[in-house]
Amino acid sequence: MLAKVISCAIIGLDGVIVEVEVDIAPGLPRFYIVGLPDEAVSEARERARAAVRNSGAIFPMRRIAANLAPADVKKAGPAYDLPIAVGILIASRQITADIARTVFLGELSMDGTLRHTNGILPMVAVAYQKGYSTIIVPAVDAREAALVEGTTIIPIASLAQLISYLKGEIPAPEYVKETAEEDEAVAFTTIDMSFIKGQEHAKRALEIAGAGAHNIVMSGPPGSGKTLLARSLPSILPAMTNEEALEVTKIYSVSGLLPSGTSLLKQRPFRSPHYTISSAGLVGGGHLPRPGEISLSHRGVLFLDELPEFGQGLLEVLRQPLEDKVVTISRAQGTVSYPASFQLVGAMNPCPCGYFGDPVRQCTCSPGLISSYQKRISGPFIDRIDMFIEVPHVDYEKLSDDRLGESSEKIRERVETARKRQLERFKGTRLVCNAEMTPTGVRDFCRTEEAAQSLLKAAMNQLYLSARAFHRILKLSRTIADLEGADIIKAHHIAEAIQYRPRRIE
Ligand SMILES: Nc1ncnc2c1ncn2[C@@H]1O[C@H](COP(=O)(O)OP(=O)(O)O)[C@@H](O)[C@H]1O
Ligand SMILES: [Mg+2]
Repeated sequence: MLAKVISCAIIGLDGVIVEVEVDIAPGLPRFYIVGLPDEAVSEARERARAAVRNSGAIFPMRRIAANLAPADVKKAGPAYDLPIAVGILIASRQITADIARTVFLGELSMDGTLRHTNGILPMVAVAYQKGYSTIIVPAVDAREAALVEGTTIIPIASLAQLISYLKGEIPAPEYVKETAEEDEAVAFTTIDMSFIKGQEHAKRALEIAGAGAHNIVMSGPPGSGKTLLARSLPSILPAMTNEEALEVTKIYSVSGLLPSGTSLLKQRPFRSPHYTISSAGLVGGGHLPRPGEISLSHRGVLFLDELPEFGQGLLEVLRQPLEDKVVTISRAQGTVSYPASFQLVGAMNPCPCGYFGDPVRQCTCSPGLISSYQKRISGPFIDRIDMFIEVPHVDYEKLSDDRLGESSEKIRERVETARKRQLERFKGTRLVCNAEMTPTGVRDFCRTEEAAQSLLKAAMNQLYLSARAFHRILKLSRTIADLEGADIIKAHHIAEAIQYRPRRIE
């Protein structure tokens, strides 16, 4: 008899429906799987066989053939074990249930337990979209699955329980929505800005950067507080909109970084990869393509500490996603795209010894050394940075002052107000913040008063700014105006934005 079981796979960030056909015929006991690459076949066979046996069912001693369709989707990992096992049980008439409208998701372990599975959210989403009425998911992933509203989610703990349910021996285990206890499973630690002494200039810059999601690079001597400042940024970032939270949760789900029992991620991501990371780790890719750090920091912050140490190669691969806010990875089986609208925060010393330009300590680097150090960050890369600030050494008086500065909560209120103004302005477009504006967006949304225009014109001529710099200054001034609640960009907004213009440290 032939059985057909519906399941899902993941391509990029999206689910695709997969059909598993199982046929059992008389003949010598053999178990074939077609549509899987060689190395995955034997594993899938062994897991399905063991799981069926260990769940109180019989593994038929006949000729079994399983076919996975369509042929061009990723065929690896344990995702196909459950539909294969269910197919065997139906084809051998151990179960007689109508499963034409049911989707089976989950990985099986040898003992028949349904394990936490990556990518449940996008898979449930596509099953719902395609009109399947019932979705079987591992019990541990029910919260994640329930983010898609309007479907019947059936949480199942083991193959044995699934068999009893399909035979009608037990009622459908229902998913009960837990009371809204906050799960901060993927919590990113942050530092309250009130604990950072002095550095008012840097805090103001971070407030602007946060308000418009602008890229920022901080330069200063060791110990001046650059890392501390960067780590305090999440504490002033606005909450994600529901739509943003769903996008981010999808990425974490597919990457296997969403712990079981988690539902929606609410905090903006903050990622700080070490400079020894590979380019696939940074932008995504690998044998089975996975999102990289730039996608894991989608809608949040990618912090690159010790920026020059990342080296030109790594920084160059960031250029395209910095511009497009999305990364496309080509593979033999086709291309996948991952969103990557992240805010880059970089920290660096001005030279190898760290004291170049310091008013007190003498720099011990030769001019050649300083120049080669700075060349590690190329002009085109710098050109994509919206803000550049210097973080000087804080003196003893300021550090030993016990008074606390302004709290992150207060600053966040201003940032949230500015972000709301942006959302309002960009209604009907795909933009969510000023940093995302394209040149057309700048033309449409950055209205300037006359004095501001002439100031910008003078700056363009005297500072010899590029077209990209021109757009960047306008975007940044738009954010500064938003923080002030102004509809039209004024001269003093432009003036402040020009101060943050990226430059090579001479
Ligand atoms: N402005 C400041 N206020 C409070 N603590 C500071 C400040 N600047 C630096 N520190 C402390 O000094 C140490 C070094 O700071 P860090 O951010 O690592 O410096 P950098 O990254 O610039 O080398 C940290 O432990 C931090 O707590
Ligand atoms: Mg540091």
